[in-house]
Amino acid sequence: MIDLPDVRDFDLRGKTVLLRTDLDVPLHSVQGKLKVADTTRIEESLITIKLLLARETRVIILAHLGRPGGEFTPELSLEPVTQSLSSLLKMEVPLVQYKDLGKLPSKETLILENLRFDPREEEKNEGKRKAFAKELARLGDFYVNDAFATCHRKNASIVDLPSLLSHAAGLDLLEEIKFLSSVRERPKKPIVVLLGGVKKSKLKTVNGLLEWVDLVLIGGKLADYPEAKKLKDHRREMAVLTRSGEDITIDSAEKFVDRVIQAGTIIWSGPLGKVEDPEFEKGTKIFAEAMAESKALTIIGGGDTEAVLTRFKVVDRIDYVSSGGGAMLAFLAKGDLPGLKALREIKKKIKK
Ligand code: 3PG
Ligand code: MG
Repeated sequence: MIDLPDVRDFDLRGKTVLLRTDLDVPLHSVQGKLKVADTTRIEESLITIKLLLARETRVIILAHLGRPGGEFTPELSLEPVTQSLSSLLKMEVPLVQYKDLGKLPSKETLILENLRFDPREEEKNEGKRKAFAKELARLGDFYVNDAFATCHRKNASIVDLPSLLSHAAGLDLLEEIKFLSSVRERPKKPIVVLLGGVKKSKLKTVNGLLEWVDLVLIGGKLADYPEAKKLKDHRREMAVLTRSGEDITIDSAEKFVDRVIQAGTIIWSGPLGKVEDPEFEKGTKIFAEAMAESKALTIIGGGDTEAVLTRFKVVDRIDYVSSGGGAMLAFLAKGDLPGLKALREIKKKIKK
């Protein structure tokens, strides 16, 4: 198993810790105001935040929300997330805007506005990305990565910050790696993976997955992408979509259920239809209920899959719920992620 530095092994008293967490949660509008629709990822982040506070550190939370593409996008502000986090932590957590980085409030816990409002967070050019990471690194003494769901992204806050500050992995990240490594190393065969949702990058994991799983099923919007149709391997099967393209057909969902009846392990990430609209949740519901009934080891991953299975009230009958969708698949495919590699490297000398 990958060996990561563990946050519990460091004496951090009196230090300011930059904590990269996963707060990329679904939002919905309630009486014209955006609110968090599912707090699971926020709840999962609490354990490391509380550990750091108990160790008398000051915590500056770094997180992203959605895909604003490097621009300030009011509807992707972390404001609703901050409210939800403050009430779960039972303390006021101020949300800091980038223009105010020079004068941070003296609270013990702060959260910075959506990292992806700055185009350098996701910049491909390493120099530009590093420049952003340097600005962030100046705010603290130590870096903790507890954002498993984003560890497959070469983002400044994931791969560059650990080269600038002493660093460790947070508790949620450590638990994810421990569990998913055990699945990779001692799998219960046969293994079936179901991919859904809209994120094309998941398709890049199919070849790696097929090195150790028995069957890959592709549903949701993914089944409509030309990239998916190009995957030529007899061990992958595509869903048939309804005429509107917004759900898979009932027939297709039932075929997918047949494919997992004999499975030892079922891994699923990504809804099979546009589940925000109840009209297009049928395929996802059929598969979710079959998975909950299954005797196989059942694993789901990703914010949207978790939120929809919570809504269907079947999530408690799933054996393991990973916070990462794309990250879980990428880790299962390759056994490592850019964010984990960065945590295993020691801090470099910073050029002023
Ligand atoms: C996720 O929701 O899986 C993570 O927040 C990563 O999001 P991304 O796919 O937009 O990078
Ligand atoms: Mg997401």
